[in-house]
Amino acid sequence: MEKMIYAGKAKQMWTTTDEDVLRVVYTNQATALNGKKKTEIEGKGRLNNLISTLIFKYLNAQGVHTHFIKTISNDEELVRKVQIIPLEMVTRNIAAGHFSTRFNIKEGATFVKPIEESYFKSDELDDPFINNSQIFGLKIATEEEIEYMWQVSRKVDQLLTALFASIGLQLVDYKLEFGRLKDGTVILADEFSPDNCRLWDVKSKKHMDKDVFRRNLGDLTTVYKEVLTRLETKLGEG
Ligand code: C5P
Repeated sequence: MEKMIYAGKAKQMWTTTDEDVLRVVYTNQATALNGKKKTEIEGKGRLNNLISTLIFKYLNAQGVHTHFIKTISNDEELVRKVQIIPLEMVTRNIAAGHFSTRFNIKEGATFVKPIEESYFKSDELDDPFINNSQIFGLKIATEEEIEYMWQVSRKVDQLLTALFASIGLQLVDYKLEFGRLKDGTVILADEFSPDNCRLWDVKSKKHMDKDVFRRNLGDLTTVYKEVLTRLETKLGEG
């Protein structure tokens, strides 16, 4: 019997008949401010699933090891079962969001090189910032694992900055999560969608990501659909 083993803010994870495979269901729930702002948006689960599928397929094809196996419906995919490492690995190419408020830096400011930040995944604690010494001291991940995760994050940054640029979008920042397979191998997990990255339209500078919802800038599905259409056109699945 399939059972739900995790219900997150935007996804559910279900067991399958294969103990090494999980079924992910993308829901229509949109949350911001760590769940304090919440609403159902018809079609959001489908859009995130389809966008994330295109990105993960692209990353797999470029040699990045991810949990993605295949999409099985508009809002479901199969992934390899991992034990999630409770860290959010954020890369920032351009100042925005919390970086701008925390350091009083204008949104849109550029950096000498991308900025890398890690956060401890905990709804209860509001995902606090965590540094390497805390990560190692608390045995959340090893030095080798952290080094590998940033190495993958940098490769993802190169690949996706170029991919989004080719469809008129600037990859401002994003969050990645990783997990361990049974044998301890670390692979990229979770999703890559406008829910966990910032995309700005190169020409209009319009926000094409969850900031539309966070800041009440317009209709989220219209914007996510536009991102999906551009990706489909580029990656040949339209
Ligand atoms: O909020 P902040 O500016 O720190 O977010 C940086 C990037 O990480 C954004 O693209 C945001 O969507 C993503 N993020 C996320 N989940 C979180 C925190 C941030 O996907 N819990």
